[in-house]
Amino acid sequence: MISVSVILSLALAPFVLGQSNNSELGIEAIEAHFTNAGIVPSLLASFDPSAVLTLSYNGVGNISPGQALTNTQVAPIPDLLVTPANSTVQLTGNYTVVMADAGPVGTDESQGQTRHWLVNSVPLTGDSSGFNVSTSTGLAITDYAGPAPAPGSGAHRYVILLYSQPSNFTAPDGLNTPGVAVSTFSLSDYVKNSNLGPIVAGMYITVEAGTASFTPSSTAAVVTSTLPAAQSTGSTSGTSSGSSDAASPTGNTSSNGAGNVFASLSKTVAAAIFGLILL
Ligand SMILES: *[C@@H]1O[C@H](CO)[C@@H](O)[C@H](O)[C@H]1NC(C)=O
Ligand SMILES: *[C@@H]1O[C@H](CO)[C@@H](O)[C@H](O)[C@H]1NC(C)=O
Ligand SMILES: *[C@@H]1O[C@H](CO)[C@@H](O)[C@H](O)[C@H]1NC(C)=O
Ligand SMILES: *[C@@H]1O[C@H](CO)[C@@H](O)[C@H](O)[C@H]1NC(C)=O
Ligand SMILES: *[C@@H]1O[C@H](CO)[C@@H](O)[C@H](O)[C@H]1NC(C)=O
Ligand SMILES: *[C@@H]1O[C@H](CO)[C@@H](O)[C@H](O)[C@H]1NC(C)=O
Repeated sequence: MISVSVILSLALAPFVLGQSNNSELGIEAIEAHFTNAGIVPSLLASFDPSAVLTLSYNGVGNISPGQALTNTQVAPIPDLLVTPANSTVQLTGNYTVVMADAGPVGTDESQGQTRHWLVNSVPLTGDSSGFNVSTSTGLAITDYAGPAPAPGSGAHRYVILLYSQPSNFTAPDGLNTPGVAVSTFSLSDYVKNSNLGPIVAGMYITVEAGTASFTPSSTAAVVTSTLPAAQSTGSTSGTSSGSSDAASPTGNTSSNGAGNVFASLSKTVAAAIFGLILL
């Protein structure tokens, strides 16, 4: 089926990727989540992963996309596992892991992002059923620093991305030696200037401290049973999820509304519409 409808509910029932072995469905779900949360296109022009990233925090377990977590829960370095979409996806070589704070929904990403984690030359260990992302054996440019957003600043979206790192990768000045403190950088400039390859897999979480000093807007839910992969396989594993915690600091909800509309279309149709709008 080409057309997909997404119910704009604020249901919080989690879709736990780790409980599904349907990587194709998992990829469609995370793509829809990134669009609904406004990460695409404001932080990432596009997001077309070839593997599912399972993020897990000690004491919490596997995280669902956009799951609201506390400072304490996200303090330890998380475990990352990637599961390829299918047997044709080859995961070899080096990878770069990034965690960036995209702020609340509506943030102007041209101002840059706070870099919470940056590890180059990370190997993957495992087989096609699942690979551990061995961040501890990579080159930690910025050591993992658990999110700690300012109280009242809303629900920040922390995006964790696994990039393919080709042999011509060249770390830019200032981010080419280990031990660089957490600071603001431009994720898109970093990727462009270093020759990083495509995003292999990604996830996001939200962390909020205190009560937002503005009216938070909401992201749309993703009903996985309506995604193409679920329909083509007749899967009944679909559950809805969404985050009511994504907020716009300007109170401008129209950008979020756009995400809702695009999520209600198939990936192909949505991509075509994005293309038109960007003209
Ligand atoms: C997916 O999980 C189900 C239930 O655990 C199992 O029966 C099935 O064989 C699995 N499929 C694959 C492709 O691993
Ligand atoms: C395997 O997954 C990749 C990445 O999602 C996709 O581009 C490709 O079409 C898939 N191949 C098959 C045979 O399903
Ligand atoms: C990943 O690491 C965990 C913990 O070290 C281990 O139990 C598991 O077997 C590893 N999985 C793969 C696919 O290598
Ligand atoms: C991966 O990174 C290591 C350390 O920088 C380097 O020695 C190795 O050549 C790289 N491998 C590939 C395939 O790029
Ligand atoms: C770096 O290598 C990749 C993959 O081999 C290639 O696609 C890309 O064009 C190269 N970039 C530059 C600037 O040479
Ligand atoms: C609200 O967001 C839309 C879409 O991003 C933008 O076109 C519009 O200028 C914004 N309005 C305000 C008041 O920020």
